[in-house]
Formats: sequence, C-alpha cells, structure tokens
Amino acid sequence: MADRTALLLGASGLVGRHVLRRLVSDARWRRVVTLGRRPMPTAFDTHEHHIVHFDELATYAAHFACDDLFCALGTTMKQAGSKEAFRRVDLEIPFEAAQLAHSAGASQMLLVSALGADPDSRLFYNRTKGEAERAISEVGFEAVQIVRPSLLAGDRRESRLGERIGLAVLKPLSPLLQGPLSALRPTEAEDVAAAMVALAAARPTGVHTYEPDAIRTWATR
Ligand SMILES: NC(=O)c1ccc[n+]([C@@H]2O[C@H](COP(=O)([O-])OP(=O)(O)OC[C@H]3O[C@@H](n4cnc5c(N)ncnc54)[C@H](OP(=O)(O)O)[C@@H]3O)[C@@H](O)[C@H]2O)c1
Repeated sequence: MADRTALLLGASGLVGRHVLRRLVSDARWRRVVTLGRRPMPTAFDTHEHHIVHFDELATYAAHFACDDLFCALGTTMKQAGSKEAFRRVDLEIPFEAAQLAHSAGASQMLLVSALGADPDSRLFYNRTKGEAERAISEVGFEAVQIVRPSLLAGDRRESRLGERIGLAVLKPLSPLLQGPLSALRPTEAEDVAAAMVALAAARPTGVHTYEPDAIRTWATR
C-alpha cells in the first residue's frame, strides 16, 4: 500500500481540502497528485500539483497514472450559470477523468456524490448526480466508492446563503433526527474526507454507496 499514488480533483474545495490534508500525511500513499485550474501551495514532498484546462483533460493523460482517483469536484447552479455548465462539472468532467485514470491503470475511484442521487429523479441536481454515479460505475474500475453526504458542514471560504440557512435549521435539530431521519443531519466535510481515505485503504471491490450514517461510521476507522 505504501507505494500507492492518489490523484485528487477538487483539492481546493471544502471536502477536497480535507482529503488532501489527510492523504499527504498518510504513509499509505507515496505520491499525491492534484489537478486544478489555479495554483495551489505544495507544502509536502509527496504532493505535486498541476494546473490543467478541464475542457482538454485528454491532453494531460500522463497525469492520470494513479492507483486511486478521488473526485471532490462540484459546483452550484448559481456558480455554474446554466444547467449545461453544472452538468459539465458534476458529471462530464468526473466521467472523463474516470476514463482517463482507468485507461492509465487506476483500479479504484472514490466519488463525492450527494444524498438523493438518482438517475431517474425529476430533480435536475439529483438526476445529474445519479447519472454521474451510474456513468462512473460502468467505467470498469475494480472498486468504486461513492459517498453521498447530506448538506455539508464545515469551514467554507465562500458564503452560500441557502446552505447557511439549511445548516442553521438542521444543526440544532440533529440530536432529534433519529432512525431514518438521521440521514438528514448535516454531514461534516471532514467526516466525508476521513471516510473516503479509510475506504480507499480498505478498498472493498465492486461498486458501493455510502450515505451519511455509513460515512460517519467509516470516518472513525
Ligand atoms: N454543498 C453541500 O451541502 C453538498 C451536499 C452534498 C453533496 N455535495 C457535493 O459534494 C462535492 C464536494 O462539495 P464541496 O462543497 O466540497 O465543493 P466546493 O467547496 O464547491 O469545491 C468544488 C471543487 O470543484 C472545483 N471546481 C468547481 N467548478 C470547476 C470548474 N468549472 N472547473 C474545474 N474545477 C471546478 C473547485 O475548484 P476552484 O477552487 O478552482 O473553484 C473546487 O476544487 C460536490 O460534488 C457537491 O455537489 C455538496
């Protein structure tokens, strides 16, 4: 395991930052490669960062040589500006990255999806997430771990009013959300990252999905 290479997309995001912090200090990964559209500090010897144009990912095929591909990319309808742009970030780019990494020898992919993901959903967001899960599940990896967090909690740099309101309502209610409702408790971004790294190391083969309670359980392993 100590000779594994991780490739991480979305390392500058809320979940991705936690994944990166964990991977670079985890002896099970010898190299951690991040691809992003902006520069990023690389404080660890094991970490290398490359700036890429996400519309020409195939140009960077050599960077996709890895064992484990982590994808924490995502946008919002507000940021993306259109449904097409949203699909590009949340479905097409992760799928292209999955294909490139698989072709370059990756055996495992870890994807941050969302609670409610369903390719047949009438809701555009849930449908897009579900389509992404389905597309990635069919790429041919030996192991696919899909985490489906509820509303994310954590130290977000950018202010998102809708999420702030959701968290203000749901966080105090969390102790009351038991049984089937426990999935509605906000998921700490840090737990999502911890679960992804633990799952990557455990590497159960096949395609697996993990909802908030399972994410919290894996986060403690
Ligand atoms: N927010 C929630 O409550 C929630 C709930 C459930 C699931 N999720 C899902 O969880 C995942 C991670 O969420 P997050 O909140 O950690 O994300 P985030 O903080 O918004 O970070 C998103 C990442 O994607 C990158 N990105 C966005 N647009 C891009 C583009 N056009 N081209 C290239 N890179 C782009 C960002 O890079 P830059 O830094 O360059 O922008 C950043 O690294 C997402 O898939 C999200 O849908 C979120």
